[in-house]
Amino acid sequence: MVFGSISGIFGKDIGIDLGTANIVVYLKGKGVVYNEPSVIAYRKASRKSSKEVIAFGYEAKAMYGKTPKGVETVRPLQNGVIADFDMTGALIRHVIEKTTGGGIGVFSHPRVIVCAPVYVTEVERKAFIDATLDGGAREAYVVEEPVAAALGVGLPIHEPRGSMILDVGGGTSEVAVLSLGGVVVSNSLRGAGDEMDDAIIGLIRQKYTLVVGSSTAEEIKNAIGSAVPLEKEKILEVRGRNLTDGLPKSICISSEEVREAINPAVTRIVEMVRETLEQTPPELARDIADQGLVLTGGVALLEGLDRRLAEELNAPVIKAENPLHSVAEGLGKLLNEIDSMKKVLVSVGHGVR
Ligand SMILES: Nc1ncnc2c1ncn2[C@@H]1O[C@H](COP(=O)(O)OP(=O)(O)O)[C@@H](O)[C@H]1O
Ligand SMILES: [Mg+2]
Repeated sequence: MVFGSISGIFGKDIGIDLGTANIVVYLKGKGVVYNEPSVIAYRKASRKSSKEVIAFGYEAKAMYGKTPKGVETVRPLQNGVIADFDMTGALIRHVIEKTTGGGIGVFSHPRVIVCAPVYVTEVERKAFIDATLDGGAREAYVVEEPVAAALGVGLPIHEPRGSMILDVGGGTSEVAVLSLGGVVVSNSLRGAGDEMDDAIIGLIRQKYTLVVGSSTAEEIKNAIGSAVPLEKEKILEVRGRNLTDGLPKSICISSEEVREAINPAVTRIVEMVRETLEQTPPELARDIADQGLVLTGGVALLEGLDRRLAEELNAPVIKAENPLHSVAEGLGKLLNEIDSMKKVLVSVGHGVR
């Protein structure tokens, strides 16, 4: 065939989960094709305000805290909103090119669905659309993140039944009750995995006068962090710089100490869910008490978080099968509805350049 397939002519459709910690891209017909940290490294050019990007994703994250003068690594999305517009646009352009192969001509540009936290303002929502168009999309749609996450884990959100989804990511924790395709109640916290990492940095600094970076703290949390006492507590050796003499030093830290340090962050998440259940209309709350709530986002992998929530809320908690991909999987399902998006999802913003 001379002109290739229709999708070949009109470009590819992709869904981008633009998380504070990770960017995950779903390519229609393929699945998840990209999953890297939302980090970018750039060199400040001599002309003021111009930035030359030198690395994205894992490569940029590895440079974190190790860059020479004039080079910076940033996470352009903070607390779920766009903190650096130009760098967010650059990041989106990079993932679009990497996942759709770039191409020439207006029709080779993909149509893109991107996620935004529920609490963003109209202005912030528009910034997501603009950054996506700026990054090379032909059309851009914004979807509320809990809707995508719930679809991704297979919750029956279109039914007249209450479904609850809790997404604990890097910068934000969001909880939502959905019914009949829309968000009934939702709450969010600007505190999640990153806050736990900061608490671990604080613990090690105060108790052992040892300085560690955020990547080390994250590794500690993921390796021995927990939300409930463990049957067999763990110990990890940690290396860093001694605060008093500046020399390298290593210590041993236990899972109990880490649990205690991150406990305030965990408790805030539990309390947010409790309040949300209190705000939920009784019929829907009953559905949740029966069916349970679904836990997703990277911190769903924190040992015992599901158990802690279940015990404190007295409701079943189901951990998503692949918590780091739920939102992208949901976007993948929405890509099939992109032609009728404006009609089916009231909460969708739309922009065409
Ligand atoms: N095994 C694990 N245990 C605890 N936390 C984890 C684990 N794996 C990843 N995380 C955390 O999950 C968070 C990233 O989750 P993600 O859903 O990708 O966030 P976002 O949507 O904000 O980009 C980070 O704080 C990361 O450290
Ligand atoms: Mg997320």
